[in-house]
Amino acid sequence: MIRDWSNFIGGRAALVTGSGAGVGRAIALHMARAGAELWINDLDLGRAEQVVAEIEAEGGTAHPVAADVCDPASVHDMVATTGPIDILVNNAGSGVLAWSGGDTRLVSFAETDPHEWEPVMRVNLTGVLHVTHSYLPDMLERGWGRILTIVSDSGRRGERFQVVYGAAKAAAMGFSRGLAAEVGRQGVTVNCISLGTMMHGRLAEMAETDPDFEAKRAKAYPVGRLGRVDDPAPLAVLLCSDAAEWVTGQVYPVDGGYVQAL
Ligand SMILES: NC(=O)c1ccc[n+]([C@@H]2O[C@H](COP(=O)([O-])OP(=O)(O)OC[C@H]3O[C@@H](n4cnc5c(N)ncnc54)[C@H](O)[C@@H]3O)[C@@H](O)[C@H]2O)c1
Repeated sequence: MIRDWSNFIGGRAALVTGSGAGVGRAIALHMARAGAELWINDLDLGRAEQVVAEIEAEGGTAHPVAADVCDPASVHDMVATTGPIDILVNNAGSGVLAWSGGDTRLVSFAETDPHEWEPVMRVNLTGVLHVTHSYLPDMLERGWGRILTIVSDSGRRGERFQVVYGAAKAAAMGFSRGLAAEVGRQGVTVNCISLGTMMHGRLAEMAETDPDFEAKRAKAYPVGRLGRVDDPAPLAVLLCSDAAEWVTGQVYPVDGGYVQAL
């Protein structure tokens, strides 16, 4: 049993993309509590700085770095700022739902326009490739690295209205499995955490005005509730530690049992 997480990934430098909010912020906070030095990446520098302040207030070490993971020039500048890192969490991603005004607009694939596909593929797949490609050479040279990508059950099970998003996330899983096979002998592991629906962002806002909101949506979840942004963080720390040296090429669901592991 792990009784003390306080130095579990001590001495490691970790970058979490899109960690100015949500799941990424929670993973970054947990990694800092587990002893890592954190780089907080976000499109929005203000959000990143706020998370850095939270980590520092707890006695941890963190730095902000603004960058768009989809833009190779921006990623290049980010790497120049951070230098080599040991742990990369590809968390930035989105595209589950298109929002129209205050209402959820669910769009079937037949109703989408091709120009809507590219941004979804770019943030959920191409961004993962750019950031991983940029940080991997130093990990290989140093003989140690952890790459973790946050994906979605839309890409494992397949969900209505999330077809292109699911395709991008499934591709990120395929990428991770293939890369794991390439780099395992050089001390680098590559895994994914697959999430179910989280009570976060717009969903959390909608729940504020509807007391039954979560219960209705959680019927398909054996644990009986939707996810919280903290739920994946302990597993993220574990997978990015020395303890997970023999764990690679895997996709771990953190989804309240919504879709059994394949
Ligand atoms: N929220 C869910 O229900 C859910 C479900 C399954 C999977 N996921 C996945 O979990 C991950 C985190 O989701 P979330 O809901 O916490 O995210 P979020 O929408 O709260 O975004 C987190 C942060 O990412 C930043 N960001 C967005 N695009 C970026 C870019 N191109 N470069 C850098 N930063 C960027 C945003 O500014 C934001 O601060 C994503 O990969 C998402 O696909 C989320």
